[in-house]
Amino acid sequence: MTIIYAIANQKGGVGKTTSTINLAAYLADAGMRVLLIDIDPQSNATSALGFNKNTVEASTYDLLLGTAQPQDMLLCHEESEVSLLPANPALAGAEVELVNMMAREYRLKTSLESIAEQFDYILIDCPPSLSLLTINALTAASHGVIIPVQCEYLALEGLTQLQQTIQMVRQHLNRRLRIRGLVMTMYDARTNLSRQVVQEVREHYPGLVFRAIIPRNIRLSEAPSYGQPISVYTPNSAGALGYKVLAAEIIQGDMSKKGSRR
Ligand SMILES: Nc1ncnc2c1ncn2[C@@H]1O[C@H](COP(=O)(O)OP(=O)(O)OP(=O)(O)O)[C@@H](O)[C@H]1O
Ligand SMILES: [Mg+2]
Repeated sequence: MTIIYAIANQKGGVGKTTSTINLAAYLADAGMRVLLIDIDPQSNATSALGFNKNTVEASTYDLLLGTAQPQDMLLCHEESEVSLLPANPALAGAEVELVNMMAREYRLKTSLESIAEQFDYILIDCPPSLSLLTINALTAASHGVIIPVQCEYLALEGLTQLQQTIQMVRQHLNRRLRIRGLVMTMYDARTNLSRQVVQEVREHYPGLVFRAIIPRNIRLSEAPSYGQPISVYTPNSAGALGYKVLAAEIIQGDMSKKGSRR
């Protein structure tokens, strides 16, 4: 069965794209067949894997509008073996074009049906908004949403609104949607603030915060300019270790759930 997660937080710059790319790479490293879907008009995940957002032939924009099939537009990042459905800036217009379309919230979900079983994991990198693009991702996310939270002042701000959106999607569009976990990003071990924020988020979301914590690490911010995930760029960095441990924690959690269903 394919496990589909949306990586979402409407707050900008909290580490959604960094988490999506590097988690994807380490899931693939662990032998999983992984598809990354970029549904953000900024197309940062597409660029970070070395593809030119301005020249990709078809993008998730075409998927949403139904003008291309996913199997015809799959790209592959060779070093990491992560497959990609790329974004391009045209996605910014999709919102408006979808407004009058039938089943507009289900378009991503429906378009994935033909390829989902080729993959063990599908990760969807969301834009920093609770727009129709994010709603499409949450509707397609059969196994839940992963929420990156930056270890910073006001980390919890906006999470209530995100929870309300998740609740709304669960009620009306995707009954299986749940929070798979919150991942603490850009942790700075030298500051009390980082420690306090992790503690505060754990108190607010008991049992929902991943044990793996992603440190602030310059290598993570350099890797995209080389078109590589951290597992290829600097596999021995602290940032790489963070995402490797996170991937292992997620695989372990998913396996034990599968086991308990039997
Ligand atoms: N653990 C980290 N250590 C150092 N820099 C990081 C880390 N995580 C992310 N960054 C950097 O912080 C910036 C924001 O990260 P990223 O693009 O992943 O966030 P985002 O939530 O996807 O942003 P947006 O909301 O714009 O899509 C980027 O420049 C990225 O390289
Ligand atoms: Mg992003």
